[in-house]
Amino acid sequence: MRTARVLLIFALITGLVFFGVGCGGGTTTTTPTTQPPTTQPPTIIGVVAPLTGDSATFGKSTQEGAELAAAEWNAKGGINGSQIVLKMADDKSDPTEGAAGITRLIEQEKIVAEIGTVQSKVSLAIAPILQAKKIPMISPTSTNEKVTLVGDFIFRACFIDNFQGVVGAAFAYDNLKLTKAACLFDVGNDYTKGLAENFRDAFIKLGGTIVGFEAHPTGATDFNAQLTTIIAAGPELIYISDYYNDVGLICKQARALGYTGFFLGGDGWDSADLVKIGGDAVEGGFFTNHFSKDDTRPEVQAFVKDYTAKFGAPPDALAALAYDAANLMFDAINRAKSTDGTAIRDALKVADFKAVSGTIKFDANRNPIKAAVIIEIKGGQQTYKATVQP
Ligand code: PHE
Repeated sequence: MRTARVLLIFALITGLVFFGVGCGGGTTTTTPTTQPPTTQPPTIIGVVAPLTGDSATFGKSTQEGAELAAAEWNAKGGINGSQIVLKMADDKSDPTEGAAGITRLIEQEKIVAEIGTVQSKVSLAIAPILQAKKIPMISPTSTNEKVTLVGDFIFRACFIDNFQGVVGAAFAYDNLKLTKAACLFDVGNDYTKGLAENFRDAFIKLGGTIVGFEAHPTGATDFNAQLTTIIAAGPELIYISDYYNDVGLICKQARALGYTGFFLGGDGWDSADLVKIGGDAVEGGFFTNHFSKDDTRPEVQAFVKDYTAKFGAPPDALAALAYDAANLMFDAINRAKSTDGTAIRDALKVADFKAVSGTIKFDANRNPIKAAVIIEIKGGQQTYKATVQP
């Protein structure tokens, strides 16, 4: 009787993940109310994500994906007998905040590895700090090519934008049968600018014409000037490589100016808030993404079920990739049998991991080669359209 109760309590405790976000400074502190009954010190992992600000749905999904992975590992006994403790930092979508957050996690929380961050421009600010300290980082979702080129401790769990741009261009040219496109992007953001360039180059290579290539300032909310120029050039499609909050406004303003053609974009569209901001204007829009919850593979359906049970809403691509990045990192630490940064990096390099978003094996630049999906906004919902293999 007594043993059974002790075992039950143990199971309950090990199933917990200690997770917390401090206010103000954007970091963390996680004060476990109950210590795991183990003599092993915990394995402390940092998670950097935009928990507040313009792209806050990205941060929430990322936190939840990492949290689910850690809870599952802890329920099975942790990594080599050590419980995982996640320490959050809020980068607020801002490179300076991200750099401050990761510095705090390294110096005060003594993290041994880091998951995050979401947006390429912020990952580019935190990666050099982790590289200098030889602490491995996996960005779940930063697709800009430059991110992993920072150094050999920097990995990602997603495809990169030259692939994403090619997939978008091929969809526009081959499937939608369009030949005249224009691009609109954020001039101060490596991801949106790089992705627009990748789309442009690929579309021209296929035989299409780019009739407009317009930049808007970071933080803009009025896109009428750029859209007027673009619409006057007569595109059949506008490629919008921004994040969801800008995309919603851009589509609305373009429709108000009388534009009736197609909208297409990249993974930055992925948020339930896109339709809330863009309303009818985003209906019929397409975007390339990493994951669809409608994918019938059993590992996807198991993840969708567990995630929905825990958080009350189905996962988006950011949640899936954070779950994958966290599992990949925990698996590497487990195989390394060490929390030494170099040992974890070496284990990551040879990873061959069946993730929810596809199998992850790294190339020489620590990028996985993975398929993309095309999503259509239909009836206000994201609907799966196609999978495109690399
Ligand atoms: N790919 C984007 C970037 O690099 C981030 C992102 C990924 C946003 C997936 C939404 C969904 O900045």
